[in-house]
Amino acid sequence: MKVLTCIVQKKIYKNNCKIFGIYTDDNLNHLSKIIKKKYIYDIKRTLKKNNLNNNFGKIILIYNNFKTAYERFLFINCGKKKIFSQNLFRKIIKKIFVYLKNCNVKNIYINFSDFNSNLNNIYWNGRNFIDIMKNINYSFNNYKSNKNKNILKIKKIIIQIKNKKYLKIFKKSIYHGLSIAKGIKLTKDISNTPPNICTPKYLSLAALKLNQIYKSITTKIFNENDLKKLGMNAFLSVSQGSINKAYMSIINYNKNVNTINKKPFVLIGKGVTFDSGGISIKPSFYMDEMKYDMCGAASIIGVIDSIARLKLPINVIGILGSCENMPGGKAYRPGDIIKTMSGKTVEVLNTDAEGRLILCDMLTYSQKFNPSVIIDVATLTGSCKSILGNAASGVFSNNKSLLKELNDASKKINEKVWNLPNFKIYKKYLQSNIADFSNVGGKYSGASIASYFLSFFVKKYKWAHLDIAGTAWKTGKNKGATGVSVKLLCQYFLNYLKNN
Ligand code: BES
Ligand code: MN
Ligand code: ZN
Repeated sequence: MKVLTCIVQKKIYKNNCKIFGIYTDDNLNHLSKIIKKKYIYDIKRTLKKNNLNNNFGKIILIYNNFKTAYERFLFINCGKKKIFSQNLFRKIIKKIFVYLKNCNVKNIYINFSDFNSNLNNIYWNGRNFIDIMKNINYSFNNYKSNKNKNILKIKKIIIQIKNKKYLKIFKKSIYHGLSIAKGIKLTKDISNTPPNICTPKYLSLAALKLNQIYKSITTKIFNENDLKKLGMNAFLSVSQGSINKAYMSIINYNKNVNTINKKPFVLIGKGVTFDSGGISIKPSFYMDEMKYDMCGAASIIGVIDSIARLKLPINVIGILGSCENMPGGKAYRPGDIIKTMSGKTVEVLNTDAEGRLILCDMLTYSQKFNPSVIIDVATLTGSCKSILGNAASGVFSNNKSLLKELNDASKKINEKVWNLPNFKIYKKYLQSNIADFSNVGGKYSGASIASYFLSFFVKKYKWAHLDIAGTAWKTGKNKGATGVSVKLLCQYFLNYLKNN
């Protein structure tokens, strides 16, 4: 499928459909730009007869006999014009594409000014349009015999711009939207890949692929011997029960180019390709979903893919810790004391609190880059999922301005984050009488305690932690990865470049 932008009205392809937004508190005068006045009465009558006004998002498709080049018109009820918003616009676009999945239309024409709305933010119209369309059109059927089910059959989407002066900004918004959508798709594809295929090695090869695609990216893979030399014993302990070996991937974006930030942004991703819980084994209910325990790492791959497409002039380093958490004769045990790369020791009280053991070594390692900001992304705690459900990712930070920047990015792209505390008081829950810390801290505030555990290893760096346990995938009959935090972090970087 192609997305074209053009000035009204260039080429009309066959088998087309023109889309119109209709407000319940508006007349249809804006149609007269396309359709002769004498037909508008007919259209009004047809829409009324079919009760277009009944509910928000209702669609009426009319085959054209109005002597225009369009073969069909799709009218959609956009509610009241006065209260139309970017959020309702997203809902409308979603309804349109869900509807079009069951149509044989090949070419659609849309002009946001035909929506006659008061939404004058052209950039965000374009971004939201692409975001929603690509999300609706995503399917993961690599492992189904019957492929290509349930995707749009559209060949071309022609977005018409009324005024030439908006063309540039519009093209930019489409380009941004498509670049980010590709990163999201990559993240979803990796995340959805089953754990017998998406092993720690597979994940590291996905990071290496970026190196092959983009000149601006260098990926380095560390195997278990390398990790041993670095002293990453906490990370290696988690992995030691699995026959699949652990890998760390360092994805270095733009390192030789003149960039705006001298000190890099570091993004760290938890890449547990299957979390059985280890010896502290999980109940079997929903255990299959622990294949998604690598969504943090997959999202970092997606973010870096997108920013490489966008050629953003920044330095970004991605660090992925990929391994499996399995029980077995070689597995680490509750009671083990491990020496982390930082030199601090940890008493393992629960082998299912493995994410923080991986991340603590990645955090220590990241400091060798002298980063300006460290952000880690992890499906870290069931506790975060209990607090926020799938409504928002939890965000924790040692820095107020970084928290604000992440919240600002979040608001722009309709991907919610919610600030959760990283109080010092949580320190006492992590005390151990025989090691420097334990890896778990009792029954309550699990998400914050996990975050506090991580903050031990951050030192003075500006750091944020995103717990995506509740948001990284959907359960139930539409089970699948969401690609969460790709859009968020891309927007965080776009905002950074705008403000610096
Ligand atoms: N990967 C899980 C967290 C998780 C659980 C994410 C369910 C999404 C859904 C993590 O490794 C884990 O098992 N955390 C434990 C920690 C506990 C043992 C302190 C948890 O949250 O139950
Ligand atoms: Mn676990
Ligand atoms: Zn886990």
